[in-house]
Amino acid sequence: MTTILALLGSPKPNGTNSLLIDEVLRGAAAAGDVEVQKILINELKVAPCQSCDYCMHTGRCRLRDDMESVYEKIVAMDAFIFAAPVYFNGMSAQAKAVVDRCQPFWSAKYIVKTDVFGGRKRPGIFIATGGQPLYNEQFIGSLHVINLYFKMIGVNNSGTLTLADLDARPLAGRPDDLAQAFALGRKLIAGDRHNVS
Ligand SMILES: Cc1cc2nc3c(=O)[nH]c(=O)nc-3n(C[C@H](O)[C@H](O)[C@H](O)COP(=O)(O)O)c2cc1C
Repeated sequence: MTTILALLGSPKPNGTNSLLIDEVLRGAAAAGDVEVQKILINELKVAPCQSCDYCMHTGRCRLRDDMESVYEKIVAMDAFIFAAPVYFNGMSAQAKAVVDRCQPFWSAKYIVKTDVFGGRKRPGIFIATGGQPLYNEQFIGSLHVINLYFKMIGVNNSGTLTLADLDARPLAGRPDDLAQAFALGRKLIAGDRHNVS
């Protein structure tokens, strides 16, 4: 059984990112036995990081809100999906709040020097969508963030899906993109089997 944690960074529960997560999950379920935890960040209380440095000394966050259960799930999961719309050439505030609140994992690794993930490297997929037609650097901001983020939470990128032009061309009329999402889900599970620290 592979436990998949999927974090949705769009405020739209049934928007493009949510549909793409569901398609990745369908692909994963077709490839193996999975348990799914899909979390809509927008429905959680996640305060922005306060840069209080508490985690620098403890490897843990001082703030008490819904991130507490997200931390637990990030440690326990076997595979990861993170999806976020592009807002002003970066990821949505909902998504970035969760990323920034994962600073305790950075502190644990580099300052406190504890191995929170027990050497485990889990496969992960990143999904990003833009409303505008594809333009230069549309996804660069999000991709830079996610590269560092995956590293900090013990995730190996096993696939990235970036889709542009969603305002004019909604996902419903894009079977190839949906098929790509499904294929990534299959790969997520196959990759899980072959991934050792
Ligand atoms: C505040 C805001 C900023 C946005 N900025 C961009 C942008 O810089 N580039 C772009 O291509 N689309 C931009 N969009 C469009 C969203 O990326 C698009 O609606 C989203 O990817 C659709 O995904 P969703 O249905 O999962 O929310 C923006 C939308 C909002 C609400």
